[in-house]
Amino acid sequence: MPASQYPYTTPPLPYAYDALEPAISQETMHYHHDKHLQGYVEQLNAVLIRQLPYQEWTLEQLLYYNTSLPIPIQAAVKNNGGGVYNHTLFFALMTPGGAGSPVGALARAILQEYSTAEDFQRAFLARARGQFGSGYTFLALSPTCRLRILTTANQDTPLPWNCCPILLVDNWEHAYYLQYQNRRAEYLQAWWPLINWDIAEENYQRALLQQHGT
Ligand SMILES: [Fe+2]
Repeated sequence: MPASQYPYTTPPLPYAYDALEPAISQETMHYHHDKHLQGYVEQLNAVLIRQLPYQEWTLEQLLYYNTSLPIPIQAAVKNNGGGVYNHTLFFALMTPGGAGSPVGALARAILQEYSTAEDFQRAFLARARGQFGSGYTFLALSPTCRLRILTTANQDTPLPWNCCPILLVDNWEHAYYLQYQNRRAEYLQAWWPLINWDIAEENYQRALLQQHGT
């Protein structure tokens, strides 16, 4: 979970650019990380450069309390800050070869909401396939500590809904178009086995602490 502050920097990938091949190509990873994420980082810094009070806020605070910011910078902070937040989570949640299937408390929680892990996979991927336009599909923890599959448009996050992200997939065409063109369903099927369920479990534990503490 990104907890960074101004000035933002681009976190390095936790694996080599070609490590996710053949599911996600080296070329896609270079563009996605070095151009798209880097661009969001640079634009967020540019927006905040003369906003001294808000340089002290964490990235999560900027997104959660976005409507408390000066109106002229709200959209730019939401879009670029969301781009930094979502991509940092997304890249961290993949790993070469994947970690198999859900683990730990998250695995048990998934089975409480869905009959089987396969049913959860089907439900998650169906929401991702069906998303109109650009955005993300999340598994998130609700304020009442229930698992929810949510979609957000553009670079929006579930934070303003008081939901904590656990897992997400990038449904923007830039995430797959170089390799899969318009075949989002193929990209999603190839992405699923890359999920780092150990990181998802860490995110779940952090989300539980956060929701219990609010
Ligand atoms: Fe992306």
